[in-house]
Amino acid sequence: MEVTREQAWQTLTRHTKSESLLRHALAVEASVRWYARDFGEDEEAWGCAALLHDFDYEIHPTLDKHPQDGAPLLRDEGYPEWLIEAVLSHAEHLEMARDTALKRTLFACDELSGFVHACGLVRPTGLDGLEPKSVRKKLKQPSFAAGVHRDEVYAGAELLGLELDDHIRNVVAALQPIAGELGLRTAADA
Ligand SMILES: [Fe+2]
Ligand SMILES: [Fe+2]
Repeated sequence: MEVTREQAWQTLTRHTKSESLLRHALAVEASVRWYARDFGEDEEAWGCAALLHDFDYEIHPTLDKHPQDGAPLLRDEGYPEWLIEAVLSHAEHLEMARDTALKRTLFACDELSGFVHACGLVRPTGLDGLEPKSVRKKLKQPSFAAGVHRDEVYAGAELLGLELDDHIRNVVAALQPIAGELGLRTAADA
């Protein structure tokens, strides 16, 4: 089956009503798409996996259910196994091998997209002018965006074989075009 963004969006929004969770899905999608373009991979396919990675979080908010109990729902809707496997692999507790570029990219973009988004929300110019250095500084403040697992941010960059600063720069660039959808201001608003 060919996966389309339209279908992935329908699945996501059928199970997810929270604006912050939808924004998280959009942010991770944009970052994963950025890397798909960079790697010359199938942007649409990678984007769908990213869009759906937390699709069941609202109905399965605990780790004894998310994302493993979501997988049968995706299977019922006809999603291919490579997508379902990628979705499952983002969860640390399932301890799956991240043996494809998509799995590595999804893991690497999940926590950092959320963190960069949070950095943008507290700046009058949003993501515009946000430097890796100030993102790194905030990573060292445990109270800022406390829900973001720092160890997973660092492990993600390493998994992609990137310096953290480069990974941050890429994610900032990926999120900038959808700043409005993410509820972020831009330099034009300041
Ligand atoms: Fe998740
Ligand atoms: Fe996530």
